[in-house]
Amino acid sequence: MAVMSQRVAGFGTTIFADINALAAKHGAVNLGQGAPDFDGPPQVLAAAVTAVNGALNQYAPGIGMAPVRQAIAQHAERFYQQRLNPDTDVLVTSGATEAMFAAILGLADAGDEVIVFEPVYDTYVPNLIMAGVTPRYVALRGEDWSFDPDELAKAFNRRTKAIVVNTPHNPTGKVFSRAELRVIAELCQKHDVIAITDEVYEHILYDHASHVRLATLPGMAERTLTISSLGKTFSVTGWKIGWAVGAAPLVHAVNQAHQFITFAVSSPLQAAAATALNLPFSFFDNLQSSYQARRDRLLPVLRAAGFKVFKPQGSYFIMIDWRGVAPSYVEDDMQFARWLIEAVGVACIPASPFYQDCDKQLGKYFARFAVCKKDETLDAAAERFAKLGKL
Ligand SMILES: Cc1ncc(COP(=O)(O)O)c(C=O)c1O
Repeated sequence: MAVMSQRVAGFGTTIFADINALAAKHGAVNLGQGAPDFDGPPQVLAAAVTAVNGALNQYAPGIGMAPVRQAIAQHAERFYQQRLNPDTDVLVTSGATEAMFAAILGLADAGDEVIVFEPVYDTYVPNLIMAGVTPRYVALRGEDWSFDPDELAKAFNRRTKAIVVNTPHNPTGKVFSRAELRVIAELCQKHDVIAITDEVYEHILYDHASHVRLATLPGMAERTLTISSLGKTFSVTGWKIGWAVGAAPLVHAVNQAHQFITFAVSSPLQAAAATALNLPFSFFDNLQSSYQARRDRLLPVLRAAGFKVFKPQGSYFIMIDWRGVAPSYVEDDMQFARWLIEAVGVACIPASPFYQDCDKQLGKYFARFAVCKKDETLDAAAERFAKLGKL
């Protein structure tokens, strides 16, 4: 009996599982997966404990607890002057990951097309495939990972239902500029297409880069669903509290799927999410400066190791081109990642899993390092890289 459905039979294991296992086996310093090796703010952790001890342990309403929906709406107003009705325009989900899947299931039909930028965060395409939706890829290229507006325009057609925009972008660290978002917004309006944005790195920005929320551009409020989550901003990736916000009809459509996927999301962690989102501006400023310091600690290490570095404007990540650093028998990014773990003792994520099969060669010379690590971890990686010249 073939136990596996056709729907999932083509999926491999995620690259994160493979790299984590190999890194653990070889005792490598793990700069692979985008999960901090430090904890979130103590007052946020304490709020979760208080909620557990305060009998907030039964099902929350499917759309999310009122205080957290309010906090999500206030956060949108505070940072982006985006006005949301917490009762109709906000849905709490099990992380951004579930929000994206519920969004695709709730907004697109089998046979529709959804545009994604490539390299593409690795859950979107499996989500689309599970929903019977066809992905259309538009390349991000060059030093600044820009897209060709003509190529993007050509990707829109009568079957296009939505475009997914991830900014700040994983894996490249690109922050889409206002001008780029305007191009996307114009095409969405011209073709009557929905934009689904993934903004989980909205508060991790470097060198005074600013994050523009696509939903706030003229004409986009009614056609943009904004997704974000607690994990990255508050260093609690294991909590899996996320949200989807936007015009009521969009959010209602997402909830149509959400109500039959997870139904409701962890009550005590939602309570703590309200505490987190209501933290003062100083928290968000400190977060940015701490990430700036981490990025600026790792950049020179990677440069000194001989990598060509793509300086990120945001996100947890630094992309590099490894040519000239690895020995000649290393032929692609998968072999490079394995070699780096085994010979140098540092783990990274190869870039080709962020490309569709026919474009794998575009990611062949790239790899991604995560900066969301303690100074000791980054320094330990630096020590290992220092061995490079002697290998
Ligand atoms: C672009 C992007 N979206 C979503 C997620 C996952 O978010 P969550 O943990 O809230 O599901 C990640 C995590 O790495 C990510 O990089």
